[in-house]
Amino acid sequence: MLRVSKFTVIERLGEGNFGIVWLAKDNILERRVALKELKSHAAHDIVNQYREARYQDILAHEHIVKIFDAGVVDGKPCIWMEYLKNGSLHDRLQHVQFIPLKQAIRYVCDALRGLDHAHSHESVILHRDIKPSNILIGNRNEGKLSDFGLATACGKMGEASGYGYMYHMAPEMYADGKASKLTDIYAMGVTLYRLINGNALFEHEDNEDVLAENVQQGRFPDRKGYRPHVPKQIRSITNRAIRTEPDKRFQSAPDMRRALEKVHINVDWQLSQQRGVSAWIGSSEQKRKDYRVLIQLASGDYWSIETSCRRKSSSEYRRIRRNCHRNLKTLDMMKVLRGVLSDPDQYESTRH
Ligand SMILES: Nc1ncnc2c1ncn2[C@@H]1O[C@H](COP(=O)(O)OP(=O)(O)O)[C@@H](O)[C@H]1O
Ligand SMILES: [Mg+2]
Repeated sequence: MLRVSKFTVIERLGEGNFGIVWLAKDNILERRVALKELKSHAAHDIVNQYREARYQDILAHEHIVKIFDAGVVDGKPCIWMEYLKNGSLHDRLQHVQFIPLKQAIRYVCDALRGLDHAHSHESVILHRDIKPSNILIGNRNEGKLSDFGLATACGKMGEASGYGYMYHMAPEMYADGKASKLTDIYAMGVTLYRLINGNALFEHEDNEDVLAENVQQGRFPDRKGYRPHVPKQIRSITNRAIRTEPDKRFQSAPDMRRALEKVHINVDWQLSQQRGVSAWIGSSEQKRKDYRVLIQLASGDYWSIETSCRRKSSSEYRRIRRNCHRNLKTLDMMKVLRGVLSDPDQYESTRH
């Protein structure tokens, strides 16, 4: 009898604690899939081994990565699912300083819809591992929650034993070891924090005891350590999601999503750094304008700021003279930068 092997592996897509994920061709259905080879933490225990697959299956939703099937492939337990060529938010963060605000908010709102779907399931499914590498980017550039390797149903009790990625573990998990909907909200808050600030400002604490202490005291993540373009409203939403007291957080995924959906972004900024110059490039759809703010360390400890703008229809930037300065001390530069990024048309920096 002719035997066709079900999959041909094309390349490796990623790896985490629970599996290696390959891009593969399904030779029978003639389509590409993401094939996740499950690392066998529960070999010979078919109920537990494929739990992740069953959660992903019962939670079919447009903001949850779609699973096709699960089974043994070449002697190994595998699940296969839709292949998302844009990868994860973690992959995206590798190439940029941070994700621009409008896009970051959209991804998080999408992931919150997926999370709400899991939390609203009759058996109340907690994800327990929300982080940028577990949110994938769909083909319409939407966010999709993925990797249910640590998910668990907590039912009416509303609590389950809690573990997860240490940077995203809520303070109460360090104290009482319990996961809940609110620890998922916390992890989503830390995810948002990382998307808008970038990883560079994030993973600096690697001693677990020090980290645990800082998380419980609310010192990590640094509630004041936002990049200068992040407006107050988003800082307070993020800080609310990561409040150390669970009852002061958003109490549900839709609560957090609705708060984010109300935010108006005046100018959406990106940052690139080249040869000692930081270039903030902003776009305002409403005003149909682009902005450019160049920051450079000149002689000694003094900075220069050069602000300019153009109409979207024009190629030429014009200087906004009142926000161009030389010889600024670091603190003055930071103050001017925050002002300019919050409203480049209205802000007027005085001479320092
Ligand atoms: N469906 C998919 N399409 C494309 N890439 C994927 C897909 N699933 C996973 N990946 C990549 O593989 C990585 C690890 O997958 P994940 O399911 O999170 O495994 P683990 O449980 O080991 O963390 C992801 O962060 C992502 O980069
Ligand atoms: Mg993962």
